Amino acid sequence: MKKKVAVLGATGMVGQRFVSLLNEHPYFEVTSLYASKNSAGKKYKDAVNWVIEPPLPSYAKDVVLKSFDERVEEDIVFSALPKEVADTLEIDLAKEGKFVFSNTASHRFDPFVPILIPEVNPHHIEAVKYQKTEGFIITNANCSTTGLVIPLKALMEKFTVKSVFVVTMQAISGAGINGLSALLIQGNVLPYIEKEEEKIESETRKILGEFKDGFILKSLPVFARANRVPVREGHTEVVFVETDADCEDAKLAFKNFVGIPQEISLPTAPEKPILLHEEMFRPQPVLDVNSGKGMSVSVGRIRKNNGFLTFTLLSHNTIRGAAGGSVLNAEFALKEGFI
Ligand SMILES: NC(=O)c1ccc[n+]([C@@H]2O[C@H](COP(=O)([O-])OP(=O)(O)OC[C@H]3O[C@@H](n4cnc5c(N)ncnc54)[C@H](OP(=O)(O)O)[C@@H]3O)[C@@H](O)[C@H]2O)c1
Repeated sequence: MKKKVAVLGATGMVGQRFVSLLNEHPYFEVTSLYASKNSAGKKYKDAVNWVIEPPLPSYAKDVVLKSFDERVEEDIVFSALPKEVADTLEIDLAKEGKFVFSNTASHRFDPFVPILIPEVNPHHIEAVKYQKTEGFIITNANCSTTGLVIPLKALMEKFTVKSVFVVTMQAISGAGINGLSALLIQGNVLPYIEKEEEKIESETRKILGEFKDGFILKSLPVFARANRVPVREGHTEVVFVETDADCEDAKLAFKNFVGIPQEISLPTAPEKPILLHEEMFRPQPVLDVNSGKGMSVSVGRIRKNNGFLTFTLLSHNTIRGAAGGSVLNAEFALKEGFI
């Protein structure tokens, strides 16, 4: 029997992805959709401003949206809430015994909350056993961090990595459904995204670190610069890695990289976590953002210069970097017996 799940923040950019990805999911069935009080009481199809390419699934159309005045009944909760709401609400839900899969930055650095990417740090899921609540919180990384750590992990399995520099070009959808005015972003590049650089630097060290009764951050210098660009979906990142891997080593490491989700065939796991491009003009958001149904990180433009391996990556910010990542985490938690 499928597990009943609730989606919180269901009308937003990430919430819409959840509604789409959970359509006919083999393990999960959406039985409640939550949004703000402004939307509560309306049918989902009337409240949502549906902006993603797959059509609104028919199961969700007539579901009446709830607000948090109504108790969450489902044991499994996918959260796509603004940080200020998630700060307390996700903790309250975990205390009530719910298994919360969060996209928000609120709890990523709580002592026993993993930032989980099952191909990269599957053992970090053990941390939930230390959470002092009946349920637990498992978070996603920031959408740019996710795209970065997957190829870094592939390199680190075989080679030494001494430092990492990354410059991001992040899509507008990363700022939420009402996030940026057209006047600010059309034909423009914004050279700053609040708190993004700090998140990429600190989350990378946590994800690539160890968990032994507590998180031990990886001792790895990471320097990030984040830009917003007029792209609809998909974060592109130019990465410089100080490493002993040469170009051919790196290509092989990227090509052959798989993790537990591939080994145990989780439904949302892409066949290849990293798709390698040899053509000079790839990856591009227009051509490659939906690779592996939005769950593969596309990597290309590999060069080595002065001890630094450089490459360009592209990762889908609302699928691999948000809703798809959360659904994969829930599939993994269920299969590993944490739910
Ligand atoms: N966009 C991305 O690429 C991305 C990637 C990774 C992580 N995230 C994180 O995921 C979360 C959601 O991001 P988003 O881009 O989907 O945001 P969004 O498009 O602005 O959507 C926000 C959602 O939260 C609901 N909401 C707002 N205020 C609320 C309240 N007081 N109580 C209950 N629900 C409320 C909204 O409902 P109404 O429609 O009723 O207002 C909407 O469903 C954020 O924490 C963000 O940082 C986003």
